[in-house]
Amino acid sequence: MAQTLLKVSGLKVAYGGIQAVKGVDFEVREGELVSLIGSNGAGKTTTMKAITGTLPFLGGDIEFLGKSIKGRGAWDLVGEGLVMVPEGRGVFTRMTITENLQIGAYIRNDKAEIARDIDRVFTTFPRLKERASQLAGTMSGGEQQMLAMGRALMARPKVLLLDEPSMGLSPIMVDKIFEVVKQVYDQGVTVLLVEQNASRALQLADRGYVMESGLITMSGDAKVMLNDPKVRAAYLGE
Ligand SMILES: Nc1ncnc2c1ncn2[C@@H]1O[C@H](COP(=O)(O)OP(=O)(O)O)[C@@H](O)[C@H]1O
Ligand SMILES: [Mg+2]
Repeated sequence: MAQTLLKVSGLKVAYGGIQAVKGVDFEVREGELVSLIGSNGAGKTTTMKAITGTLPFLGGDIEFLGKSIKGRGAWDLVGEGLVMVPEGRGVFTRMTITENLQIGAYIRNDKAEIARDIDRVFTTFPRLKERASQLAGTMSGGEQQMLAMGRALMARPKVLLLDEPSMGLSPIMVDKIFEVVKQVYDQGVTVLLVEQNASRALQLADRGYVMESGLITMSGDAKVMLNDPKVRAAYLGE
């Protein structure tokens, strides 16, 4: 079996007195695409922030490559390969597409390799190449999502965390975004995908977890979950 890259055990995260994540266990193995689905407010983003060191956690532990990340900062973890595309994308709208991609490589100093990786990102996302010298803020939401993904790839992630990449996009762009997520996964990148679009997320995934009110309530093989009447009733609108 493939190596476990990310192991979350008994994770608890609170905002002041409010517990948003109440003891969550899951893992992501090398080469997998794992989908974490669940309705709005379930605690998905809070979990992602704890994993990437942007939010401290009170209880439990998160191990990346077999070591606890407790207390470590986000920048430090990006350097180790734990890279998130946040909800809402967070591209630098007043910088060009190329500058945004260069920022993604800020932890690296191998200039020639960085240039090669920018070319690789442009091959994956031809739309970004066409608009390389334009300001990111002039692009559509879907294009900005591609840029955010491209920027994350520039850090050479060992695990790429995507928080609701399809949120707020038109149906055509939603299709396109799920296509590029698959493309990135097919290139060998390990992906943890958070989505409210449960059906699409499970179609792509190897395994899935359902989160409800700060707890994991279901998990398993993604194809099995897609055909599970309980999952279908609760999350696939049947
Ligand atoms: N900054 C915050 N301060 C206080 N409560 C928050 C904050 N962010 C999220 N929450 C609460 O934590 C819970 C989980 O939120 P979140 O992790 O964003 O859920 P999801 O990403 O699954 O929609 C929700 O009840 C939300 O209201
Ligand atoms: Mg969220």
